[in-house]
Amino acid sequence: MNRLLLSVVALVALSASCQGHPEVEFPFGKIVNGEETTIDQHPYQVSIQTTSGSHFCGGSLINDDTVVTAAHCMQSYAASKLQVRLGSTNRNSGGELVGVRAFKYHEGYNSKLMTNDVAILKLSSPVVQTSLIRAIELAKEEPENGEKAVVSGWGTTCYFWCSSPATLLKVAVDIVRQYECASSTYKYGTSVSDTMICAYSEGKDACQGDSGGPLVSGGKLVGVVSWGSGCAKDGYPGVYASVAQLYDWIVNTTASL
Ligand code: ARG
Repeated sequence: MNRLLLSVVALVALSASCQGHPEVEFPFGKIVNGEETTIDQHPYQVSIQTTSGSHFCGGSLINDDTVVTAAHCMQSYAASKLQVRLGSTNRNSGGELVGVRAFKYHEGYNSKLMTNDVAILKLSSPVVQTSLIRAIELAKEEPENGEKAVVSGWGTTCYFWCSSPATLLKVAVDIVRQYECASSTYKYGTSVSDTMICAYSEGKDACQGDSGGPLVSGGKLVGVVSWGSGCAKDGYPGVYASVAQLYDWIVNTTASL
């Protein structure tokens, strides 16, 4: 048997299955089928890392010392073991590295149901806002079904066998409101509950390592990357914590922490 041919066939098959649909180009897509972007396009985007520099979640700057992220991102490390990189397209260098004074995740966060998957993190010192580091406004109202949105992050470019890029990626998706996301149009059923909002575009999605990061629509933060069945699978939208549903908790916790 021709070993070279076999491994080429295997690689192509692996690449295709990673992308969630077989017709995409070789080798791998970006985020999942998004594209490279730069931090000036998403100046609210931050990378949450361990103090040894390993990125594990995204987040969004909402004022000069506050980051919104996912509750499930805040289950593994103490604040003293965390750092945040702001103002850089590359998660490993540039911009500013700031420590974390404290964080709090939602009292109603349920790791099985993934309800209330939101957390507030306070930076050890406020940042100076620039064109590369800028707070984003929270959406008070949920966007309409079908509205255009963008999700960004340093997460993996597919669910299996893909690594996290060093460069920030983004992908355009459409808003799917909770009632629609839990309907028979999609495949999740009742696991999509009312603190959640979804976003979908065939073959495009956030993925592992994008968690905690921003879903933005109409210039406002509407979602926090939370969960999904695999990534970019047909019929399975990306699921986000809904900023509008969690608005009061976010504002109150920001003020009190
Ligand atoms: N839980 C993942 C993380 O920790 C994010 C999952 C998002 N998945 C998706 N298909 N949109 O990074």
